[in-house]
Amino acid sequence: MNELYFSDGSSIPQLGLGTWKSDTGVVGNAVTEALKSGYRHIDCAAIYGNEKEIGTALKNAFSEKIADRNEVFVTSKLWNTMHHPDDVEKALKTTLDDLGLEYLDLYLMHWPIALKREAQFPFGPDDFIAPDELPYTETWKAMEKLKEKGLARHIGVSNFSISNLSKLIRSCNIKPEMNQVEMHPFLPQKELFHFCSDHDILMTAYSPLGSSDRSERLKAENEPSLLENSIVHDIADDAGCSPAQVLLAWALQRGTCVIPKSTNPGRIKQNFNAQKVELSDEMVRTLDHLDVNFRFVSGSFWAKDGSPYTLDFLWN
Ligand code: A2P
Repeated sequence: MNELYFSDGSSIPQLGLGTWKSDTGVVGNAVTEALKSGYRHIDCAAIYGNEKEIGTALKNAFSEKIADRNEVFVTSKLWNTMHHPDDVEKALKTTLDDLGLEYLDLYLMHWPIALKREAQFPFGPDDFIAPDELPYTETWKAMEKLKEKGLARHIGVSNFSISNLSKLIRSCNIKPEMNQVEMHPFLPQKELFHFCSDHDILMTAYSPLGSSDRSERLKAENEPSLLENSIVHDIADDAGCSPAQVLLAWALQRGTCVIPKSTNPGRIKQNFNAQKVELSDEMVRTLDHLDVNFRFVSGSFWAKDGSPYTLDFLWN
């Protein structure tokens, strides 16, 4: 299994199972199938609403010796309503309780966006806490304590731009070790990728297959399709693999982690086997030309009228 290394020498398996949009009732089986197929990296988040079922699947897998706890890299994420420094450890402990774990391998700040405790999702401008009132740099200080206490072996962020990362790096004691962002050939995030490499920050690619199972309200009109792209299909034919495997192999060969979501046992295995696919330099160059700077997860739900956050704050 391919791995990437943190600066302390510990490793993270490059390919993980994504669990965003994996419903309760099926997510547990997806985790079990993934572990049986060889996955040793599971990506979770409190807001996905499925950590309890994942916890049960992990517990069963450990007791049935499908995998040992210390072999499985488990990530979770702090939700936006828990950014107040007093809430951060509480949020992690709820996640640990739900997942049935004593520590997380990686805990990420899910977004650089703070919401009021009771909001969960923003329905109006009053649900936000403005960045100058509760800056993510303050939330980060509480995340640093989780690493010091050993509750999270590594800490990082998600959906952070170069500008937000730079601000965080200037004020932190412990640098973020991971930045998880949307990344695929339509959005290769080249500058962010170079910035993170220069600062020893690993990257994880979410929505690597285009997340076409997002709810309709999160979709733009006429979205392009990664899995149906004719160039991706041509490369799949030439490489003797599936279009999904082409997209995953592209992410792996670039040196990022990648977390395809599937609840289908056949596709879970197929995605894992992307690690055996070798794309030629020419195939990679062709995929690199698909860059159209297109985000499937636009972040526009954080930047509605009256919100103290803008798309410019998020991505530029
Ligand atoms: P399913 O869960 O039924 O397999 P992303 O990882 O970008 O969020 O994409 C997830 C979407 O891609 C889901 O709809 C998932 O469906 C689908 N998917 C996952 N793996 C594959 C694959 N190997 N081939 C085609 N579709 C896939």
